[in-house]
Amino acid sequence: MKTADIVILDFGSQYTQLIARRLREQGVYAELLPFNTKISDIKAKEPKGIILSGGPASVYAKDAYFCDEKVFELGVPVLGICYGMQLIAQHFGASVVPAREKEYGKANLNFKKEHGLFGDTKDGQVVWMSHSDKVENLPAGFEVIADSENSEFCVFGDEKRKIYALQFHPEVAHSEFGDKILKNFAKYICGCESTWNMGSFAKSQCEKIKALVGSDKVLCAVSGGVDSSVVAALLAHCIKDNLIVVFVDNGLLRTNEAKQVENTFKTKLGINLISIDASETFLSRLKDVVDPEEKRKIIGNTFIEIFDKEAAKHKDVKYLAQGTLYTDVIESSVVGASKTIKSHHNVGGLPKDMKFKLIEPLRDIFKDEVRALGLELGLSRDLVFRHPFPGPGLAIRIMGDVRSDRLELLRKADVILREELKSTGWYDKTWQAFCVLLNVNSVGVMGDNRTYENTVCVRVVDASDGMTASFSRLPYDLLENVSRRIINEVDGINRVVYDISSKPPATIEWE
Ligand code: XMP
Repeated sequence: MKTADIVILDFGSQYTQLIARRLREQGVYAELLPFNTKISDIKAKEPKGIILSGGPASVYAKDAYFCDEKVFELGVPVLGICYGMQLIAQHFGASVVPAREKEYGKANLNFKKEHGLFGDTKDGQVVWMSHSDKVENLPAGFEVIADSENSEFCVFGDEKRKIYALQFHPEVAHSEFGDKILKNFAKYICGCESTWNMGSFAKSQCEKIKALVGSDKVLCAVSGGVDSSVVAALLAHCIKDNLIVVFVDNGLLRTNEAKQVENTFKTKLGINLISIDASETFLSRLKDVVDPEEKRKIIGNTFIEIFDKEAAKHKDVKYLAQGTLYTDVIESSVVGASKTIKSHHNVGGLPKDMKFKLIEPLRDIFKDEVRALGLELGLSRDLVFRHPFPGPGLAIRIMGDVRSDRLELLRKADVILREELKSTGWYDKTWQAFCVLLNVNSVGVMGDNRTYENTVCVRVVDASDGMTASFSRLPYDLLENVSRRIINEVDGINRVVYDISSKPPATIEWE
């Protein structure tokens, strides 16, 4: 069994894998294990430190999850985050109760003493909270290191046993110095060194894939987005002629997107692409479907059916390669104790009786890491820095049923938004920008006439991995231009609104 510098016990938080990636950014190799892993298996990893992740349960509830208490006796430092923090508090004799003031989003940290965990950070720093329980008193042997307005025991620790507890999530990008706090824990408290990098990741993935596939063939589905393109490039690099690359036009793409994808693969990447136009099939199956999860599942199933048909035309196709990211995995499936948020089409939306075995080399990493890998593999910056576009496409940006006339409206509005962002330099400053067609008509007045037409919502967010996001503070003039152009140029839309929700508690896509 391979060793890991840091073992992260996963109690089901949406952010657990983010802890691992923050450590990877420091070159520290961390491995995620289920919360109930046997102590002998944890020991076998010879960790220099243990992190207890957050999770959706309450430590006092019947369905609470506990790890083996011997993790506190391994003689290595332990850091508890959110649920992990409450578990430490309860284990060492404090009580944890439902909080009167639930805390989601920003809070400010006030230092109560100087501490190595916060080396190179500052008092008053912004941290990101997501909890509805609170620690009521301090466990014996621990002292408070920092508090926040709503959490008297926001950070506490026991210096003798090197056990530390944080109420907030240092792993999310919105915690101002979160990366430094995790670095301080791994490097200075646990003594880990930097040995991991993207080149070593690409090499180890290639070796794994080659050994797995042997002489069988792999069908790789591409969408033109960065994730699937990086997978195709990685596979082209390591299994060459055993790779079949397929692009399916599902009728849910943006203006000219299908043509652009064909052009990128055939001319720029030199990868032989099989293009299939299946738009009619997708649209007829989505007719009258309004439930977001049902839309996602129909789309996932239809993709697989088409891949099956294509694979039957070739010999020995056993594997389907996809650009699934950790964000898709964690929000789709029950990983340990996590809750399903959405069935991302390339994970939760797959049929149970699928014949292919899956190859998902990006499953443990995040979008910005994929981008770094794309550059490492020689893909163009244009492709690598495209905004993410979801597998189920515009279907999950149309509230209610998906029809060709509504798709057309959305496409027209979307082109305008992207044009305005690109011409003002804001496209590259934001993580994602798109329009959502709401199932809401409202009254307007155009040229003295009453209108009663559709509403478009503009969603533009800042994020670094898509796990958390905040709405982009676009200049009002830019928003005004976008709104004016959409209403003037798109027949059937008379109102534009701007989405000012963060993730959490909202998600980036509306469905
Ligand atoms: P949410 O809406 O979950 O989105 O906050 C996080 C990021 O994931 C993208 N997304 C998807 N990507 N298949 C994908 O390939 C999907 O089913 C899917 N759903 C959401 C979303 O655009 C955002 O970047």
